[in-house]
Amino acid sequence: RRPISLPRLAQMREAGEKITMLTAYDATFAAVADAAGVECILVGDSLGMVCQGLPSTVGVSLDTMAYHTESVVRGLHRVQGTAWVVADLPFGSYHESREQALKSACRLMQAGAHMVKLEGGGWTAPTVHFLVERGVPVCAHLGLTPQTVHALGGYRVQGKGDQAAQTLRRHALELQDAGAAMLVLEMVPAPLARDLTQALPHCHTIGIGAGSGTAGQVLVMHDMLGVNLGKNPKFVRDFMQDAGSVKGAMEAYVQAVKQGRFPDDQLHAWN
Ligand code: KIV
Ligand code: NA
Repeated sequence: RRPISLPRLAQMREAGEKITMLTAYDATFAAVADAAGVECILVGDSLGMVCQGLPSTVGVSLDTMAYHTESVVRGLHRVQGTAWVVADLPFGSYHESREQALKSACRLMQAGAHMVKLEGGGWTAPTVHFLVERGVPVCAHLGLTPQTVHALGGYRVQGKGDQAAQTLRRHALELQDAGAAMLVLEMVPAPLARDLTQALPHCHTIGIGAGSGTAGQVLVMHDMLGVNLGKNPKFVRDFMQDAGSVKGAMEAYVQAVKQGRFPDDQLHAWN
């Protein structure tokens, strides 16, 4: 297998093949996800909850993100993995200035990431442009942006109603113009996510709780394996239930996404 690259992801999109992404935070699980055929691995700041036991992603540091990124990349290297590695820029590491964002992004790229992800729209577009111009591929993240949970007032669906949908659409178009090659859409109405996907030919939408109309899907690995400290969000499916192994569960996830069996839009109450 050849390593996943941006041209390869564009090819997949062109061919109508869904892109699959899972989070991973360590060498072993990253290697298993890669072997299961997951194209993109996200070293998400959800590791704050999953690995560190924090109440939200707000307390995750850049040092921690670099540490987990290095672990994931070493795991992939060991098995000659092909996955595209995206690493989250944590809260506070890109908010001060474009220069601060570049410095933080370089830290994660030097840890082995192929792309960095940052949350929010509007003010982030110039930052994305600054990074992309300097050779850092960027994944944006709109809708429910967990780093701003306290400002949003909780983990709830975003982009509901005409006004909110219009703002989200404007932000998404600005991010594509700024050069973002990928866009995570978290907890937005499925019709809006589908619509945005059509509007963004150069920016691959990756949905989580956003219905089946996106170019790809992402889940937190622990959620889809049914190992969780709390309750799973409604949009998660436990792929471990019918699988005999972790790798089997991940393969089932990949197959379900590719064949359009996950997510099931019927189950999304907010559609
Ligand atoms: O940190 C994370 O796991 C994420 C995904 C839920 C998209 O940002
Ligand atoms: Na994240």
